[in-house]
Formats: sequence, C-alpha cells, structure tokens
Amino acid sequence: MDRKKFLKLTLLLVLLHPLKFILSMTSITRGQDKNRKLFEKIPIDVPDGITFYDSFFSNKSNNTLRFYSTKCTHLGCKIKKQKNSQLVCRCHGSRFDTNGRVITGPADRDLPPLEYSIDHKEKKIVVKLPA
Ligand code: FES
Repeated sequence: MDRKKFLKLTLLLVLLHPLKFILSMTSITRGQDKNRKLFEKIPIDVPDGITFYDSFFSNKSNNTLRFYSTKCTHLGCKIKKQKNSQLVCRCHGSRFDTNGRVITGPADRDLPPLEYSIDHKEKKIVVKLPA
C-alpha cells in the first residue's frame, strides 16, 4: 500500500468513528422507544365521574367518556388528587377542571385529551398514552 492510499484509509477510519457513535446512539433511542408503553388497556366498565389510572384519568358523565393525561403541563408532576371537582397538582398547586382545562397556574396549558378505542373482543378500552 502506498502512502497516499494509507492516508486516505486512515482518514476514512477517523471519519467513520464518530458516525458509528452517532448510529449507536440512534439505536439506543429506538430501543427505548420500543420499550415505551404506547397504550394501556383498562376494563370496559369505567365508573362514572373521575377515575385515576397510572398515567391518565377518565371522566365519565352523561354517557360521555373522555381520557386525559395526568402529567401536569407545568413541570410534569403526576396529578393524582381531586378536590371539590378540581384536579390538583401536588407540586406547585395548579388546578384543572374535570375536562383538563387550567383553572389556576402556574400551568398555562390544559391537560391533553387522549385518544382511545374499544377492543370488543377483549372487552377492554385501549387508551393511547401521551408521547
Ligand atoms: Fe404541576 Fe408545577 S408541576 S404545578
């Protein structure tokens, strides 16, 4: 191998090393995405009113069923408490109504509604979890 070819090969190897690192980071991210839970199945007989689940709550009233994320839109604390028809974030006191709308901050965005579907075969509701 002559000197010119050797230098080209060395340069190529030096440039490929960071590329390999970037690709490995991408595959880690993909792996995490694969492991992330995308939906949750709950029994079809959701009780009336507000019911808290792991990462969302349901609001069932007048034959209407809605799901909302329990991740506070301020800094992400999980909302687990209802007080006087308001959902209260324990971290900094934001309050939301039962349809996820901000009543008082510091949160300035509503809790996002979640899509769901019904699995009639399993008699479950499949709630799409927030990204
Ligand atoms: Fe909920 Fe700050 S995280 S009010």
